[in-house]
Amino acid sequence: MTRLIVSADPMELVRQAAAWLESEITRAIAAQGSCGLGLAGGKTPEPVYRELALASSVDWTRVDVFFGDERSVPPDHPESNYHMVHLALLSRVAIPAGQVHRMEAERPDRDAAARDYECLLPSQLDVLLLGMGPDGHTASLFPGSAALDERHRLVVPVVGPKAPAERLTVTPPVIEAARTVAVIATGEDKAAMVARAIEGPLAPKAVPVQLALRGVWYLDQAAAGRLTGRS
Ligand code: 6PG
Repeated sequence: MTRLIVSADPMELVRQAAAWLESEITRAIAAQGSCGLGLAGGKTPEPVYRELALASSVDWTRVDVFFGDERSVPPDHPESNYHMVHLALLSRVAIPAGQVHRMEAERPDRDAAARDYECLLPSQLDVLLLGMGPDGHTASLFPGSAALDERHRLVVPVVGPKAPAERLTVTPPVIEAARTVAVIATGEDKAAMVARAIEGPLAPKAVPVQLALRGVWYLDQAAAGRLTGRS
């Protein structure tokens, strides 16, 4: 059953999503002394990461940061998910550099980069934040992609319809294995797909973000605007 948190106030949504991350990270550290944290790229989570950087209860020396996907651009490129997360969060907290695991999607051999990254991933991420595109993609798992059939590899190179097209992405097993997962989506342009994803039918190959239906979804009122309550 998907848990929906709908906020009318954009800053309230940011605070609630950041509070969820803070709570789940500290819960993992309390339970096992560490936290494997997977982060989404794109634009929506950026203010959430800035808010999370202010959370005083997180012991960042116990956190390993991973990425759900990355574009095939240099790490200092404006379109780099790592660049966004570095500016919004990683540069503002005391996380050891060796615990930030960047996807090297800019490497010419993206398949080798995917295989190298797979070796860094834990068998289960403790906390995973995902975004969602208006087409229902999440990470860089786009509707109809062959990567949605991948059951063995944890990271694969893909070419998607959203520029920059060449990317690396985690595969469904990574999302399915995550101990706890959240989706954040805002804006009216995502409302139809949010309703489709939440209210069914279940078809993750057509609506990849349905891989995260078991999680908590943070939505603003615009993105929640087409929900009918039938789910
Ligand atoms: C990416 C993201 C992607 C993102 C969605 C939503 O690299 O593009 O990881 O999955 O979460 O495209 O992007 P916005 O938050 O910018 O709408």
